[in-house]
Amino acid sequence: MEDTLKALISEAEEGIPAVRTRPEFEAFKARYVGPHGSLTRAMRGIKQVPREDKPRIGKLLNRTKKRLEEVFEVCLGAIEDGEQAAKWGEAIDPSLPSPDPPPGNLHPLTQVREEINRILKSVGFAVADGPEVDTEYFCFDALNTPEDHPARDEQDTFYLPAQAKFANVNKFSEERYLLRTHTSTVQIRTMLRQRPPVRIISPGRCYRRDTTDATHSASFTQVEGLYVDKGVTVRDLKAVLDFLFKSLFGSDTRSRFRPHFFPYTEPSYEMDASSAHLKKVGKEWVELGGCGMVDPNVFAAVGYDPEVYSGYAFGFGIERCAMILYGIDDIRYFYQNDYRFLRQFGHPVSC
Ligand code: DAH
Repeated sequence: MEDTLKALISEAEEGIPAVRTRPEFEAFKARYVGPHGSLTRAMRGIKQVPREDKPRIGKLLNRTKKRLEEVFEVCLGAIEDGEQAAKWGEAIDPSLPSPDPPPGNLHPLTQVREEINRILKSVGFAVADGPEVDTEYFCFDALNTPEDHPARDEQDTFYLPAQAKFANVNKFSEERYLLRTHTSTVQIRTMLRQRPPVRIISPGRCYRRDTTDATHSASFTQVEGLYVDKGVTVRDLKAVLDFLFKSLFGSDTRSRFRPHFFPYTEPSYEMDASSAHLKKVGKEWVELGGCGMVDPNVFAAVGYDPEVYSGYAFGFGIERCAMILYGIDDIRYFYQNDYRFLRQFGHPVSC
């Protein structure tokens, strides 16, 4: 019996190279472990083995069976490799990088927007939303912007054709619709919905009739901020913007306000930032957006008492922040969907 089993193993081992297809493998396997296979037969033969030899022969049978299983595994592995090679042209080396496309990443503007949201949420701001198609009321009138303000000009604002009626959508449905020129619209929408305290940010897309060049795009994104409560001062405004820009651009960042005019804030400022990042674009200071203390006329439009409440507002461009952060010198890169550009911002998708 011992000799038979030894012979069986060496026969099987020698047979490996001849087994090249799955039918060959099935026949090969059957030769040993099929109903009439040699191992099956040997197993049945244990009945005839004298009692005292049974444990030893039993062990031997088990060892033979195990070895045969290893032989089958080798055969099958070789057949599978052959099949893969036939399918892909060459054997697969699992240690090489995957030929699948990389998992992708968020657009750089999305990444910067999410980072701004994260920073401002950490100091209590909630994220509010508003429509991109809005009315003159929300975009201009309620924001204390007079009829003859140049921003309302058809040269600057995309108006929807008069026949585009959104009848009875709300009480302002008689108004001209437009593509919002800034996210400041969300200030009004939020204040009409709730009483103070209000502490919101609103990131979103805006549109202007700008001719596209390295720093202008007819569609771009902004973040609006609004805080209304009792006793809010310019100091609070400066503090939150300092915190935001230091968090975003690094702790060496400085920010400054320059007096300016916006119809919806009084006083109003333009805000600039200076950071090591700016060296990438060869500048000391860069203008990021506007801000100021909410004008009493805006409070009047939403029914807040300016004698009781005060507040600040700010708005700035996300593209500008991303350009500073990454040293990008042309805004058009953001919208061209060129994979060679986008894949440079490939930290893993996480939000
Ligand atoms: N809406 C302004 C713009 O688009 C930015 C801005 C200025 C927003 C002053 C504000 C503000 O909230 O108070 O240029």
